[in-house]
Amino acid sequence: TWGSAIRPRRVLLPSPRSFCAGVERAIHIVERVLEQQGAPVYVRKQIVHNVHVVRRLEALGAVFVEELDEVPDGATVVFSAHGVAPAVRTDASVRGLSVVDATCPLVAKVHSEARRFADRGDTVLFIGHAGHEETEGTIGERPDSTLLVEDLDAARGIEVPDPARVSYLVQTTLAVDEVAEIVDVLHERFESLQAPGSDDICYATTNRQHALRSVADEADLVLVVGSQNSSNSNRLVELADRMGTPAHLIDDAGDIDLAWLTDAGTIAITAGASAPMSLVEETVEAIRGLGPVDLLEREVTTEDIQFTLPKEVRQP
Ligand code: F3S
Repeated sequence: TWGSAIRPRRVLLPSPRSFCAGVERAIHIVERVLEQQGAPVYVRKQIVHNVHVVRRLEALGAVFVEELDEVPDGATVVFSAHGVAPAVRTDASVRGLSVVDATCPLVAKVHSEARRFADRGDTVLFIGHAGHEETEGTIGERPDSTLLVEDLDAARGIEVPDPARVSYLVQTTLAVDEVAEIVDVLHERFESLQAPGSDDICYATTNRQHALRSVADEADLVLVVGSQNSSNSNRLVELADRMGTPAHLIDDAGDIDLAWLTDAGTIAITAGASAPMSLVEETVEAIRGLGPVDLLEREVTTEDIQFTLPKEVRQP
């Protein structure tokens, strides 16, 4: 009918979405070092897991490398927001490199717990994903005392030297509900299991999950703006999937498959903590290009967290 033909699509924007304080700080650090020292500025690993952020900083003169042996002697290197193992710091100092550390303070907090727990004699169970830079960095604090627990099966099967001295830590960007299940299993298995002092899953991860959860039921389709290697973005896609709403991870509007939009009268669009806000706006504009849109902001909570910059790049 004529009526249904002009009915606008609803686009729900759960909030918070997009950049967290740790990502803003990390990007800011690279920009400051570029201002202070000029190009090139070396950055070990992607500063944050987003292709658009990386490309923009590359255009400004940042050079992203995988390992320190690609950094020339005497140069300055920025460590990414995901943190590094102590062995990498030692390597940099042996090489005489100047380091500016963009590790998120909330990742650094988990590192300090890893040291504290291991040094009091605990086996530390690190709940996280193998191969992720944050996992490598945190386990690298006390590799001999730390074991990786990737999922429920691993939690059920893991063996420790002394079951009375076990603590756990969590990667900052995991799914809140999945980690709760894993921790329940660990509690059943190890009665005296010690928890971190405060939640390791960070405020930004938690808030983006809660915000998406509040709208995913209403939506026919969820689009998560974020890159393939972004942990917290992938967790948002999985959360929508678990709620029964089809969800896709897109780097930008160009990744949208028009077939997804057929029958999608209500679309929720969010973005992982490493994805710039402008990409969400572009995605909304792309959908608007297909027909009328009712845009509905759904604010679940507000964030006002800001982290100070490291002293090397603070202005006098
Ligand atoms: Fe830090 Fe959480 Fe962002 S750990 S970098 S505030 S996603």
